[in-house]
Amino acid sequence: MAVLVKNGKIVNHDRSFKADVLCVDGKIVEVGENIQAPENCQVIDATDRLVIPGGIDTHTHMQLPFMGTYAVDDFHTGTRAALSGGTTMICDFVLGGKGTSLIDNFKQWKSWADPKVMCDFTFHMGITWWSEQIREEMSKIASEYGVNSFKTFMAYKDVFMLEDDEMLECYRHAAGIGALAMVHAENGHIIDRESKRMVAEGVTGPEGHEMCRPEHVEAEATQRACVIADTVNCPIYVVHVMSKSAGKVVSEMRRDGKVVFGEPIAASLGTDGTNYWHKCWRHAAAHVMGPPLRPDPSTPKILMKQLACGELECTGTDNCTFNGNQKALGKDDFRKIPNGVNGVEDRMGVIWTKGVHSGIMDENRFVAVTSTNAAKVFNMYPQKGIIQVGSDADLVVWNPDRSRNISKDTHHQAVDWNIFEGMEIHGIAEKVISRGVLAYEHDGDFFHVEQGHGKFVPRQPYSEYVYSRIRQREKFYKPQKVEREPYTGPVIKLPQ
Ligand code: URP
Ligand code: ZN
Ligand code: ZN
Ligand code: ZN
Repeated sequence: MAVLVKNGKIVNHDRSFKADVLCVDGKIVEVGENIQAPENCQVIDATDRLVIPGGIDTHTHMQLPFMGTYAVDDFHTGTRAALSGGTTMICDFVLGGKGTSLIDNFKQWKSWADPKVMCDFTFHMGITWWSEQIREEMSKIASEYGVNSFKTFMAYKDVFMLEDDEMLECYRHAAGIGALAMVHAENGHIIDRESKRMVAEGVTGPEGHEMCRPEHVEAEATQRACVIADTVNCPIYVVHVMSKSAGKVVSEMRRDGKVVFGEPIAASLGTDGTNYWHKCWRHAAAHVMGPPLRPDPSTPKILMKQLACGELECTGTDNCTFNGNQKALGKDDFRKIPNGVNGVEDRMGVIWTKGVHSGIMDENRFVAVTSTNAAKVFNMYPQKGIIQVGSDADLVVWNPDRSRNISKDTHHQAVDWNIFEGMEIHGIAEKVISRGVLAYEHDGDFFHVEQGHGKFVPRQPYSEYVYSRIRQREKFYKPQKVEREPYTGPVIKLPQ
C-alpha cells in the first residue's frame, strides 16, 4: 500500500520545507523533491497546503465509566472524530477504582479499544490507590505492557484521590522504573468541604462547581505535586492546566530547573468559565469538568502564550463527554453532574485559530505542541511526531486558508453539545493519513478506514527527553555529609 503526498510544504517542529512524502506499508520511506510515484500508488496533491505530522491528543477518556454512567464518545466515535480534526493518535487513561488491579484494568480497557479504534492509541494508567500490589503492578506495566506514564489524583476524594504520602511513594517508585508521574492537581479536601458548604448555602447550579474550587485550589495542588515529585527526583506532567495561576506555578517550577511539564487542553485554550453562569442549565452543565474552566476571560490567551513560549509543553483535550440528559443527573446538585467536556475533534482547529491565526505562535511551534512534544515526552519519538524517513505515516494535509464553524449538528462526536458551538475555526484538516492510508477526506466527509484500523502503540520507560536531566541530577544532588568531630558537650535531660 503506497501513498504519495506531492507538492506540499512540510511543517515539522524545527523547520518547514517544500517536499513530497512517500509512504509505503504504514511508514514514511522517502521525503524529497520530485519523488516518482511507484506502481499502484495513490497520489495526493498538496499544492498550497501544509503537510503536518498527525496530531497526538495527550489526554482522552473514551467510554469512561464515571460518576455512575459512561462517557458517550467511545473508542469508535471518539477516534473517528479525532481523525476528522487531524488527530491520528490518542492517549487514553485506564482508570479503575480503588482496590482494582492495574493489569486487569489494562486488559479491560484494551479489549474495549482494540476492536473500535480508527486511529492509533496508547494508554496512561491511573493510580487511584496505593499498596504493595500497585507498586509491583506499576513495574510490570512499565516493563511488559508498554505504559510509562501514571496519573495520580489529588481530587475526587474517596474515589481516585491519593494523599501526599501515597503520592510520594508512588512518585519515588515511578522514578525508579523510568516512568513519568502525571497529576490531576486540585486540593480534594478543600473541594469536598467547600462543595458541601456551597450546596448548604443554596448554590446548587453549575456555577457552584467553580465557586467551591477557585483557581488557587488548583495552583496550590500544582505547587504541592511538583514539590513532592522533585523531592524524589521524579519527572512530573501536570494534566489539564486550567488556570493562569496553575500555569504560572508550572512556569516557575521550570524556571527553577525542575523537570515539570504542563498540558493545557482545547477547552482551557478555547473557552472560559463564564459559561457556568449561563442562564440555560444545559449550556452551563456542558462545561462542567474538573478542574473547572476559569471565569477570568483572559485565561485562554495567557495559556496560549505560555504554550507558544515553551512554558507549557503539550496539548490534550480531556475529552470525556456526557450527553445533556446524563449531565442532568446533577440538575439539583452540581456535585452529581458527570464531569467532562469535548475537544478531541476540534483541538487542532482551536489551537491553529487562537494560536497561529492570531499570531501568537508559528506553524512549527503548532506542530511541536500538537504532536512532536507529546511524542518526545511519552517516548514515541521519532516513531510519531515528525515527518521523516522511518517514522509512522501519520500525516495531515492542512489548509490554513479555509474556515468552518463548529456545531454539535455537524460534528462527528456522539455527544449532543459542543463547548465551542458557533466558533469560527481557521485551518482545516483536508486529508488525513493514518498508518499510511488515506483515512479521512474533509470534502465529502469520507472515512476510508473501519473500526479496528488503529493499533496500540507500546512505549518504553526512560524517555530520553524526560530522563536525561533526571539522571544527571541523580549524580549531582546526592546529600553531602559534613565531616566534624563528635559532639562531647552537655545535653539536657528530657522528662520521663
Ligand atoms: O472532568 C474531567 N476532567 N473528567 C475526566 C476525569 C479527569 O479528571 O481527567
Ligand atoms: Zn483529571
Ligand atoms: Zn440551552
Ligand atoms: Zn482527564
